[in-house]
Amino acid sequence: MNYSVALIPGDGIGPEIMEPAVAVLEAVGDKHGHVFHTVELDAGGAAIDKFGEPLPLDTLYAAQECHAVLLAAVGGPQWEDLPGDMRPERALLGLRSGLGLFANLRPAHLIPQLRAACPLKNDSLFDMLIVRELTGGLYFGKRGRFGEGQGASAFDTETYSIEEIERVLRVGYEAAMKRRKKLTLVDKANVLESSRLWREVATKMAKEYEAVETDFLYVDNAAMQLVRAPARFDVLVTSNLFGDILSDEASVLTGSIGMLPSASLGVVSTSSTTGGEPNTSMGMYEPIHGSAPDIAGKNIANPLAMILSVAMMLRYSFNMEKEAQEIEAAVNKVLDSGLRTADIASREVVSTSSTTEGSSEQIVGTKEMGKAVLRVIENV
Ligand code: IPM
Ligand code: MG
Repeated sequence: MNYSVALIPGDGIGPEIMEPAVAVLEAVGDKHGHVFHTVELDAGGAAIDKFGEPLPLDTLYAAQECHAVLLAAVGGPQWEDLPGDMRPERALLGLRSGLGLFANLRPAHLIPQLRAACPLKNDSLFDMLIVRELTGGLYFGKRGRFGEGQGASAFDTETYSIEEIERVLRVGYEAAMKRRKKLTLVDKANVLESSRLWREVATKMAKEYEAVETDFLYVDNAAMQLVRAPARFDVLVTSNLFGDILSDEASVLTGSIGMLPSASLGVVSTSSTTGGEPNTSMGMYEPIHGSAPDIAGKNIANPLAMILSVAMMLRYSFNMEKEAQEIEAAVNKVLDSGLRTADIASREVVSTSSTTEGSSEQIVGTKEMGKAVLRVIENV
């Protein structure tokens, strides 16, 4: 079977991290006899510069024709003064809604090799999956301004329908069933009416998933528990805005935001419904970090979140669990060997910007890190 993949390198460090990720994808294809047809598309600042808009319709249509989308990052200071609907970030939102990707999976776990980069004193190993609602809530609600000058006001609104809540919760429960069978709904039900609806829906659905232990946390408390006791979490399900905020927080616990991949899914296939047959389901895969314009072009960005996003694509869009694990194992092996981009080096190493005595870490650039992962894949 041939698989088509849209590549959106975007802005800032985007193109630099896309390159090693595509090399990894091709290596996996060669090794296992899969053909991945890639097509490069413009979106974000790159598309604004070329076509005057962040998400040209041609890009969206071409993406819809593919089996999956691999996106690096969009945005940068040169486009910051544009009106809201012309900013690079609009491309992301347009792709998410235009492709119907309502569930965003952001796994965050502390891998033992990166313990030294974890800022927590009590760095017990944790392994959580944040399931963020992605096409509703404050990001897509009515917004606007009224009045002028000093009298101006602005508003954004959070609206969720039962159907929107149910479908993303179901993704969370299905994931919990395959994990440690614990689901935490994060909301602000002590203040927000929309959160109270989330709780009602979750309370009902919890009865369908009796094997899963469901609990509820207010988002302020959840933000605190994440740094206090991250190991208490298995699956967290939450709204678009809360998921955005909490996933950045969780990423820092893993050592660096440069380590976290994500999958944005619409209809989620489960092996029971496909009977293990090869299948594809549309998804968009991207690191959770941004375009990091301050470090763009310097060969210092961490490409691992982008490479791990390729693994998620193979797992969720192409049902290639073995190949996905092969990429994840290769990343682990490279970390085992002591290679680190600057963001995941342990603090002593960073402060001397070279290898310290007694430490086996070696700081490498984007390209070297990518090549190291590639070598492991090609040689195993
Ligand atoms: C993310 C990003 C985006 C978001 C921005 C760039 C619009 O922060 O994917 O987490 O807020 O969803
Ligand atoms: Mg974010």
